[in-house]
Amino acid sequence: MSLKNRSVTIIEDLSNEEIEQVFCVADRMLESIKGQTELCAGQIMATLFYEPSTRTRLSFEAAMNRLGGRVISVSDAQTSSHAKGESLADTARVVGSYVDIMVIRHPSEGSPRIAADYAGVPVVNAGDGTHEHPTQTLCDLYTLRREKGHIKGLTVALWGDLKYGRTVHSLAYGLARFGARIVALADEGMELPEYVTARLLNEYSCHVIQGKASDLDRIVQQVDAVCLNPPSSKQLPLTAQYSGDESGHKDDRDSATGQIDVLYLTRLQKERQFSSEGAAKVRYKTIDHQFMKRAEFSDTLLMHPLPRVGELSCELDTDPRSIYFKQASFGVPIRMAL
Ligand code: NCD
Repeated sequence: MSLKNRSVTIIEDLSNEEIEQVFCVADRMLESIKGQTELCAGQIMATLFYEPSTRTRLSFEAAMNRLGGRVISVSDAQTSSHAKGESLADTARVVGSYVDIMVIRHPSEGSPRIAADYAGVPVVNAGDGTHEHPTQTLCDLYTLRREKGHIKGLTVALWGDLKYGRTVHSLAYGLARFGARIVALADEGMELPEYVTARLLNEYSCHVIQGKASDLDRIVQQVDAVCLNPPSSKQLPLTAQYSGDESGHKDDRDSATGQIDVLYLTRLQKERQFSSEGAAKVRYKTIDHQFMKRAEFSDTLLMHPLPRVGELSCELDTDPRSIYFKQASFGVPIRMAL
């Protein structure tokens, strides 16, 4: 299988085997991150970022620079012809004639696909609105694989703004495909969209256990029971909803431990949903040292795509369970590999 000349606009663009292949190459990149200076010599990558970014853009650019290629960039839509009203299709067609690969972040869902249809070169989605962020998912899955040695059977709790946070959408598909169990703990009104849960169920037989973000501590005790002995919908515990079928079908994501192995935090995507006064009123919990002291979390890894804005206390940064900076650092080898 070759990824040559293929775009990655959603996580489904990569098969599980191809994802594994990217991880193997990323391992090699990590071993010698400064020793790859010929791999993309003579190639040019364009990064078109129509939304703010630090990690994603810079790790893509660092990756290309490490590989010996060159980078041209639009980091502010207001300085490009987008501000004059140019269509994305036209921009993609023109930029595609200048470069060998294009990376795009855009506020409109599906726009990387449009760019891919016109660019004539591979296009990589670096985040499209509330939809997907496939390369962040590669970083997340790679981090889990390195930390835990496997993804199958892990119980991963996605926590926070699961409606507008694009990282958790692609991650949920990736986790399901590799056999993890998903617990979705959303803030009120920010539940995983139905099209995501329906797809998880219909395409990957993945039954999401749903609850409220504020119930995280209570849910932890219920996860074991819910996971190992899924109730029919009539027997649902108040805070945990098992979204599987009514027959009590047991999803054999074997080797699951019954505890939460990973707590994946996300920030409130306030730019996507509220006026600033509205966002200020949302009471978003802060995960801190006190919270993580609970025995149930003694082996729970903490992940976050970053940036964080108050939901994750800095006092946890030196805690061995905190792997979010490692997760961010894998952005370079993963994007080099891709
Ligand atoms: C995320 C994004 O842009 O979707 N950041 C990232 O790329 N690592 C998460 C976020 O903005 O909350």
